[in-house]
Amino acid sequence: MQTYLVGGAVRDELLGIDVKDRDWVVVGATPDEMLARGFKQVGADFPVFLHPRTREEYALARTERKQGRGYHGFSVYSAPDVTLEEDLKRRDLTINAMAQNEHGELVDPFHGLEDLRARQLRHVSPAFAEDPLRILRTARFAARFQPMGFSVATDTMALMQQMVAQGEVDHLVPERVWQEVQRALHEQEPGTFFEVLRDCGALPVLIPELADSDILAEALSALRAVAQLDSRTEQRFAALLLPLSPEQAVTRAEAMKAPNDCRDMARLACHFKSALADLSSTQHACASALLELLDYADLWRREARFEALLQVLECALPEDLRARVKALQIAARAAGGVNPGELLDRGFKGKALGEAIRLERLKRIERALPESNR
Ligand code: CTP
Repeated sequence: MQTYLVGGAVRDELLGIDVKDRDWVVVGATPDEMLARGFKQVGADFPVFLHPRTREEYALARTERKQGRGYHGFSVYSAPDVTLEEDLKRRDLTINAMAQNEHGELVDPFHGLEDLRARQLRHVSPAFAEDPLRILRTARFAARFQPMGFSVATDTMALMQQMVAQGEVDHLVPERVWQEVQRALHEQEPGTFFEVLRDCGALPVLIPELADSDILAEALSALRAVAQLDSRTEQRFAALLLPLSPEQAVTRAEAMKAPNDCRDMARLACHFKSALADLSSTQHACASALLELLDYADLWRREARFEALLQVLECALPEDLRARVKALQIAARAAGGVNPGELLDRGFKGKALGEAIRLERLKRIERALPESNR
């Protein structure tokens, strides 16, 4: 039996990047032999094992054939006679289909090193088309390695376009799509992910609201600005959907099965964007509109979320609205200083207490706003 380091670890080492996970392929062994050596089997579908000490993943060499549509329906063949080359051939991109033997020598039947040097993301074989998720993976690798000069090879882009035209992307389950989108949002150049999806035609299927080129440009410029910060997934997602109405953003987030915090941040950001654009310039109207926005965001119970929202608005809104974000910040600080306990001590109760809190917040916002907002 022989053991090879494969996939991302080989690629990243050659690129001079820190290797996170190391995956291994074992050729010429049976599951029983692995168990006898103390490996623990994980996953019911594939013959994958955990090393008893390092806990790294060791997979028996396997071939895969697609049977149905979409992500499900692979038949896996694994036996001691499956060769390393056969296992590498079922993989997505040539740069992911290199192996290293125990002496550190590269095994590279699909010329991954050449593509790595030429900065090309190229499919290994026509079997790429058997798994539509690979379109999203390729877009994600483009987003990750774009700063190093990588792009999708022309023939791979053509294959992806053909897969989209054949309806392959329509059958991806939202959970898998979300997993890739979520990871893509944290890659080096998240915008590139969506550009690659646009170029292969998958974007109108996955996020139809961003299909228009002006809207996409606006979304990506907001995303790029927010991605400069050490921002969270929900902030990046909200920036991406910022050109949409709050209703559209919620509908899309739900269709994509995005987590609730992502859906809510997107709804808030889109709502604030249009509300700030409509803000009146008279002092009282402005103060009460700002207070309404603070109520809408439930600042009183969700302060951290509000701060995260402000961060998105501050860097992603068009220049002309930024002064209004400042006013919002001032209003939040002023209104946040109202202590409901004090009003309670002064004898306010029930509805009257609520009204007294509101008036006090309003008064403080009016006082705190600079002349320019009055
Ligand atoms: N792979 C594939 N097709 C998929 C998923 C995975 O061909 N749909 C192969 C690739 O060869 C990949 C390896 O399985 O290199 C391991 O997959 P994964 O851990 O998801 O990717 P990595 O390349 O290790 O990338 P990352 O750095 O994101 O972990």
